Amino acid sequence: MDEFHSEGGALFCEDVPLSEIAREAGTPVYVYSHAALERAYRGLDEAFSGAGLEHMICYAVKANGNLAILRALSSFGAGADVVSGGELYRVMRAGFDPKKVVFSGVGKTEDELVSGLGERILMFNVESAGELECISRLAVMHGKRARVALRVNPDVEAETHPHIATGHSYAKFGIPLEEAAALARRMEEYRCVDLIGIHQHIGSQLLKTTPYVESVEKTAALVEDLRDAGHDIRYFNIGGGLGIRYHDEETPTPRELVEALRSSLAATGATILCEMGRYIAGNAGVLLTSVLYRKQGGEKTFLVADAGMNDLLRPSLYDAYHEVLPLEDGRGTVHADLVGPVCESGDFLARDRELPDAREGDVLAVMGAGAYGFSMASNYNSRRRPAEVLVRGDRWAVVREREHYADLIKGELIPAFL
Ligand code: LLP
Repeated sequence: MDEFHSEGGALFCEDVPLSEIAREAGTPVYVYSHAALERAYRGLDEAFSGAGLEHMICYAVKANGNLAILRALSSFGAGADVVSGGELYRVMRAGFDPKKVVFSGVGKTEDELVSGLGERILMFNVESAGELECISRLAVMHGKRARVALRVNPDVEAETHPHIATGHSYAKFGIPLEEAAALARRMEEYRCVDLIGIHQHIGSQLLKTTPYVESVEKTAALVEDLRDAGHDIRYFNIGGGLGIRYHDEETPTPRELVEALRSSLAATGATILCEMGRYIAGNAGVLLTSVLYRKQGGEKTFLVADAGMNDLLRPSLYDAYHEVLPLEDGRGTVHADLVGPVCESGDFLARDRELPDAREGDVLAVMGAGAYGFSMASNYNSRRRPAEVLVRGDRWAVVREREHYADLIKGELIPAFL
């Protein structure tokens, strides 16, 4: 059963009617399903186990870093992929085992590297010669050992939105494949650093297995080369990127993806890491928003909602499609734009679409908003970021309060010379 489903004409999350949450927690509000998170996580986990591959799933925290979501995932056994000191702080607060934490990102600061060393995380995914040098210097200075993987750029086209493709040679990410071996040779100079893995991530919302297969085949060859050069390469990280269905996309299942990669992965003899974010959280969340006004602009009908681009940026930024459902069935549809209150023409949640024929006061559910929803929300227009709710069976709880006006000016100071 889909965790977001209709029962007697009303939309539910697990056993809770979404109208109850909208009424009691207010809108806009993100609502997450514990069962959906668990199902996605276990589906991935079982795909690797079923293929006989030693593995660890490091959830990409950037997709949704709410502490309750993180706590749930760590309770399932997940590790975490963090990309900032802030994300590292979150996962430690949520109770993750640092031995299951990998630290990615093209621009880690010294402070962030020192925090990672201090927590004794599993490894840093290193993106440049400069970063490797910096890690080495800090490890020596702080008397720590650093474990690293080289993030290589396999130069493949990921066939996704250009903003979220990362594995081609003109992207800022990773070390060109042909330079990785030379960089590994410099490891001798870095006596506090152990090279234990290879990492790649070619893009997000990938709908085909072929780019993965191509890049894994390219990078897996490096594992042998580096072992021959004396490095104990124990981990092979395939990155994240598995796509989900937002509309009518055909997506590979985890099993299909792992099956396509199985022989190349098995041949490495390494523990396989993966860093899925969207696959785990994307369809485990929705954004509930109330229709404030229904207005006519010439030929066009606008449903003006209380959630906007500051709450869910994906439609404005990527022209992303999110399905919009009514909380109660039976009103039919209207050709309209669902727009937000923000003062930008690009502020929309759905444009030129058949939408629920909603009246003022009705609540709509914007589906597939569990990943890169709240985590990309901002305070633009001095709007308070929305509340977040987690549902488990027939229980639900606010897992992040709606922001207060005081939060908007937190840390701001009016200097004495004014
Ligand atoms: N690992 C690395 C190194 C990444 O850069 C990313 C995502 C992931 C893992 C997780 O990818 P996923 O499994 O979620 O596809 N804001 C965009 C997505 C940006 C993804 C950035 N990197 C969106 O809303 O579509």
